[in-house]
Amino acid sequence: MSTSLAWDERFAGGDFQFGEAPNRYLQALRPWFSPGMRALSLGDGEGRNGVWLAEQGLRVTSLDWSGVGMAKAAALAARRGVAMVTIVADAASWDYREGAFDLVAWIYLHLPPADRAAAARGVVRGLAPGGLLALECFTPAQQGRRSGGPKMVELLWSRAIVEDLFGTLEVLELLEGTVSLDEGPRHQGPAEVVRALLRKA
Ligand SMILES: C[S@@+](CC[C@H](N)C(=O)[O-])C[C@H]1O[C@@H](n2cnc3c(N)ncnc32)[C@H](O)[C@@H]1O
Repeated sequence: MSTSLAWDERFAGGDFQFGEAPNRYLQALRPWFSPGMRALSLGDGEGRNGVWLAEQGLRVTSLDWSGVGMAKAAALAARRGVAMVTIVADAASWDYREGAFDLVAWIYLHLPPADRAAAARGVVRGLAPGGLLALECFTPAQQGRRSGGPKMVELLWSRAIVEDLFGTLEVLELLEGTVSLDEGPRHQGPAEVVRALLRKA
C-alpha cells in the first residue's frame, strides 16, 4: 500500500523523480489555460506541474500528502520565481471548497477505489462552473511495463472509471492508449495511459 511516508522516502534527495518539466499532456493543454485561472494541482509530488502552471500565470494551489514533496515543490517555485500555495493533505479527505478552482490537474495520482471516488467527488465540487479537469493516469495495460505506475491493479485507471466518476462533467477529450514518456528517472519509455479533459457545466 502506498503511504505518505513511502513517498517522502522516494522524494528524499536532490533528484526530481518525474523531472522538473511538466507532464507533456498538461503542457499540450496550454491553449485551454489563461492567466488568473485558479488551479489545483492534485497529488503534485515535487511540484513540476504546479510550478509550470504558475509560470503560465495561473494562481496555483499544489496539494500532496508528502511533506517532503511539498517542500521541494515550494523550493522549486521559489527558484523559478513564481508564487504557489503548497498544502500537505490527503486528497481523499481534503475539504474541497465549492467552486474554488477553474482547473484541476490530476496527473498520475493513483488512489484506492474508495479514496479515488471521494477525491473525485471533492474535485467535482471544487470546480467552478466552466472549470476544467485535466487527467493523465496509468491503465491496467501498463502492468508489466517498466515506465512507472503502481503494481496494484485496483489503483489503475480506465476510460470507464473516468466516465463513472466524472459522469456529470462534459467530455472534451477522453482517450486510452499508448504514449511515450520522458519524465525523470521514474517515467521513461512506452506507457499505457488514460487522458481526459473534462469541463463542469
Ligand atoms: C506518481 S506521483 C506523481 C506526482 C505528480 N503528479 C507528477 O506528475 O509529478 C504520485 C503522487 O501522488 C501523491 N499521493 C498519493 N496518494 C495521495 C493522497 N491520498 N493524497 C495526496 N497525495 C497523494 C504521492 O505523494 C505522489 O506525490
